Amino acid sequence: MMGAALAFSQSTLADYAYNLQTPASQVAQDVFDLHNLIMLVCLGIFVVVFSAMFYSLLKHRKSLGHKAANFHENTTVEIIWTVIPFVILMGMAYPAARVVIDMKDTTNPDMTVKITGFQWKWSYDYLNDDISFYSNLSTPREQIVGTAEKGEHYLLEVDEPMVVPVGKRVRLLITANDVIHSWWVPALSVKQDAIPGFIRDSWFKADRIGTYRGQCAELCGKDHGFMPIVVEVVSEEDYKVWVEKKKGAAASAAADNTRTFDAAELIARGETVYQANCAACHQADGKGLPGVFPAISGSKIATGPIADHINVILNGRPGTAMAAFAGQLSDADIAAVVTYQRNTWDNKTGDLAQPAQ
Ligand code: CUA
Repeated sequence: MMGAALAFSQSTLADYAYNLQTPASQVAQDVFDLHNLIMLVCLGIFVVVFSAMFYSLLKHRKSLGHKAANFHENTTVEIIWTVIPFVILMGMAYPAARVVIDMKDTTNPDMTVKITGFQWKWSYDYLNDDISFYSNLSTPREQIVGTAEKGEHYLLEVDEPMVVPVGKRVRLLITANDVIHSWWVPALSVKQDAIPGFIRDSWFKADRIGTYRGQCAELCGKDHGFMPIVVEVVSEEDYKVWVEKKKGAAASAAADNTRTFDAAELIARGETVYQANCAACHQADGKGLPGVFPAISGSKIATGPIADHINVILNGRPGTAMAAFAGQLSDADIAAVVTYQRNTWDNKTGDLAQPAQ
């Protein structure tokens, strides 16, 4: 019994660590060191102040016949308690300012990646390599919630991680498409609000190959907790292989836009597109969340004219949370998701959309 309890507490402890995450970049290391320095200074102040206070309380207590001192002004003491905090604050401000300046120095990047926050996923545009993709939560939400309800840990995974080469300065241009999000990867010491209409820049240079994880750090709606960030830092050779693979995938997506599909293929593909892009709001069963997100199942849009249905997906609905998917999804993906929606749940129209010819 004891052994089991001990093993449990050890495995639990092994999953956690005190202090900040192990730094994976020089800036993160500097932040870590700065944090420890300030922590030590505060600890020193705490010990000195509380020692003096408790010493005075005990040594000069009333029961020993001491009386409260009653005096005005003491220039020496006032100078001392002004100068000492000033020196301490300057001692912390100087290294802190240096770290902030380093953090914000986005000059001379080796590559630039634009990151956009969406409700609820991220997109990455590699400006030098001409690659764009979305990074969606890949674990089904029900599974995550089920695991959490049992008190167990879960790891939020994405379908497409951000991949970068080790030892390169990566400049980030961070923005958002709908509401404010925040791109946060602690081990790389980047935490930058992603604000619609603004492009904020940041940077990192990862020093170690590995997988680094983060989360959206700005409350952005229902699925704020399901916007994980995964950054894979790889060798330069592996990065080149990844770039080629991504470009190949983009080429085959372009080829898809000009071929004809049969119904089964479109519907199967549409289900994948739906789960990745629509299910977060409209739910896996298409029934929506009453009062918040409209149902697709049995709706006028999904059973009415196909042109209207395609139009809503392409252009969104201004003034609502429904985003425009033109440019976000390929023509083939839009055709697939329209066909899927029109041929499942309570919508059996038999309509097939096809990619634009
Ligand atoms: Cu996006 Cu919180």
